[in-house]
Amino acid sequence: MDIRLNKQNLKGFIGDNDIEGIMPNIEKAHNELEQKTGKGCDFTGWLDLPNKIEDSFLDELAALGEEIRVNSDCIVCVGIGGSYVGIRASLEFLIADQKLPVYYAGQNLSSGHLHYLLEKLQDKRVTVIVISKSGTTAEPALAFRVIKQFMREKYSPEEFKKRIITITDAQKGALRQITDKEGFRSFIIDGNVGGRFSVLTPVGLMPIAAAGVDVKQLIRGARLAQDECSTMDMDKNIAYQYAAARYLLYKQDKVIEVLSTFYQRLSFVEEWWKQLFGESEGKAGKGIFPASLSFTTDLHSMGQLLQEGERNMFETFFLVEKSGIEVVIPQEEEDLDNFNCVAGNDLDWVNKQAYKATAMAHYEGGVPNMSITLPQFDAFTLGQLYYFFEKAVAMTGYLLEVNPFNQPGVEAYKNKMFALLGRK
Ligand code: PA5
Repeated sequence: MDIRLNKQNLKGFIGDNDIEGIMPNIEKAHNELEQKTGKGCDFTGWLDLPNKIEDSFLDELAALGEEIRVNSDCIVCVGIGGSYVGIRASLEFLIADQKLPVYYAGQNLSSGHLHYLLEKLQDKRVTVIVISKSGTTAEPALAFRVIKQFMREKYSPEEFKKRIITITDAQKGALRQITDKEGFRSFIIDGNVGGRFSVLTPVGLMPIAAAGVDVKQLIRGARLAQDECSTMDMDKNIAYQYAAARYLLYKQDKVIEVLSTFYQRLSFVEEWWKQLFGESEGKAGKGIFPASLSFTTDLHSMGQLLQEGERNMFETFFLVEKSGIEVVIPQEEEDLDNFNCVAGNDLDWVNKQAYKATAMAHYEGGVPNMSITLPQFDAFTLGQLYYFFEKAVAMTGYLLEVNPFNQPGVEAYKNKMFALLGRK
């Protein structure tokens, strides 16, 4: 894989003996995962998904994406949680590849958000992609009601039908019923892949193909990661190395993991990571709290807490080797701000020095840290990254002896809200 994991700043916190000590647990978890016999094994369809996806299906998505781009000025994606974050994470990471604007709805219950969105859509040619695995979630269902009405008023019955695409279960849920009744085009979410693991299914692939991203490259990356993260050889499997380090730190009462990035384009991947890790591990009174920070901005606020606050956290820096954009710092005749020392350098070079300084300072301040470095912002890398994180959280979940593939807590909220709304 092109992704690198650096564990140098774990020295003094985790030693080789610690890893040796948990090898039997890792091996057990590995076997349960690969043989699909562990907790929640009915929801491990994501494990072999990259190598199972047919290229012909990816071609079909690319062709539909092309049709959408010809007929539309923008796309509206309606969904929440696993039916939202991965799409947005992908498109923010791959902003340079995006050919069509994408707006989001149904990820909250904000009337202001929906109101201003509809205002923006008035004079645009719109395609709507509605995503809900269960087909019953309140936020996207209500947003879709409003948007459906808008689309019905804006378009002829034929156009209305053509411009709405749904992604949902094959049989279950209200969205399936609506789809069949209205005759919308539709893609199916496999029952054995949970929401937060669904970014490499039509949930993520369809919208991002429509936005113009090369989904074949994304899946090629995921296939590489699937191959390389399926080995029990710890030296070769960085997903297991990351999982083992997290688990051992948690056992030392480092109960918060801060994923800190120095790149704006990684911010929504951090959101995706938070959902994946928080929802997978946080149960049965256990779980590492996944937090994220955007540096260097947050160094001027949360940096204080990291440097000198309670020592109950570890940090994972999330970096990119080639930012892809060069901004050269100009030389000034009069060096009033004393920054001629960096003149002629790319701003990203300074950013990288900021990372080095932060990693060192936080380590010396008692915060063990690792770094995950990506080579660049492209679909091939992103595909690898998604699979890497999915495999890592599955491993930590099993090490923690929880079921990483259910979300009873999320269901509890949904059920209570339905009761308050008087919904059956
Ligand atoms: O990971 C999950 O299962 C959840 O976050 C869901 O993705 C989220 O609640 C949305 O559910 P649905 O796709 O069924 O509307």
